[in-house]
Amino acid sequence: EAAEKGGYDSYMLKEIYEQPTALTNTLIGRLHDDTGEVNLDIGLDPASFKRISIIACGTAYYAGMVGEYLIEQLARIPVDIDVASEYRYRDPLVSEQTLAIVVSQSGETIDTLEALREAKKGGARTLGIINAKGSSITREVDDTLYIHAGPEIGVASTKAYTSMVSAMLLLALWLGRARGTLGGEQARELLHAARELPRLVEAALAPERVARIQEIAEKYAHASDYLFLGRGVNSPTAYEGALKLKEISYIHAEAYPAGEMKHGPIALIDEDLPVVVVATESRLLEKTISNVQEVRARKGKVIALLSDGDTENAQHADDVIYVPRAHEMVSPVVNAVAMQLLAYFTATALGKDVDKPRNLAKSVTVE
Ligand code: AGP
Repeated sequence: EAAEKGGYDSYMLKEIYEQPTALTNTLIGRLHDDTGEVNLDIGLDPASFKRISIIACGTAYYAGMVGEYLIEQLARIPVDIDVASEYRYRDPLVSEQTLAIVVSQSGETIDTLEALREAKKGGARTLGIINAKGSSITREVDDTLYIHAGPEIGVASTKAYTSMVSAMLLLALWLGRARGTLGGEQARELLHAARELPRLVEAALAPERVARIQEIAEKYAHASDYLFLGRGVNSPTAYEGALKLKEISYIHAEAYPAGEMKHGPIALIDEDLPVVVVATESRLLEKTISNVQEVRARKGKVIALLSDGDTENAQHADDVIYVPRAHEMVSPVVNAVAMQLLAYFTATALGKDVDKPRNLAKSVTVE
């Protein structure tokens, strides 16, 4: 087993460090930034549907949330997203004009598989965004877009998440180009940003950055609750950060879109509550910073994810995690790495076994 962990203390840490390679494999051969085209090698006719339903569980669901945002922005197709266990029982409105996208690392999650069958019954076209080759879901969908992240052993998903998000970006770009909503110049800019991802994630894993996150994780490891905030394409980053922390450290964590805080969760804030805020460069940065100030004014402890070089906003935080600058549309991939490390080092500071979190299985094949 030690050999399989490749010198790392856990599969989870190994898989965190495998992300630059996993992302290269997700993107390789699919991007043509000279022409602004994306090649996905799938039979799907991009003009054959009017709306999209994304269906998944857990971390894959959060990758789907990023996909919802990207597809609506770049391809201007209405997208709704469901947790698979709800979708299958809510008598969803499906027709031949629907594309159902199921997202799953294992391709074996029973709720996702059953939700897929439900969508097919209604006449939907189906696309799987899947890691495990030849898995049950891949045998039942019309098309599969493999994420090629390589086997993921750690129960807490890491490299599969960032690869799923990258595959969602590819799909959004492909749909945007095919449906004429995304111009050549913007496509080239985004393709270039996508191509940079393995390098940016490598940079996010530089030893001094990892050491800083470890320091912050240890400082707050004894908190009983955590709040995670993000906005826009990075609200799923907040949800994913909270899920990762819950799964492996057993600390209660909640996540909200930052603008929603004033509608309730703000009542939780006091000097004992660490609040992780994704405040990297974006169109909504100024608004996010005003949310940070609301937390600060109530004595919450702000841990801010800021883009490299943003010294101005550092004054609003108790602790800063700097992440490499990335185009807003690809930033969820880079920001997720900091979230994974924060959860990892919190769990190890508390002496938890990150590869065998209590009550959890890698793939949930029972209802
Ligand atoms: C992630 O860290 C989880 N362990 C879990 O939420 C997982 O993402 C979910 O069960 C879905 O699994 P799948 O991607 O294999 O369908």
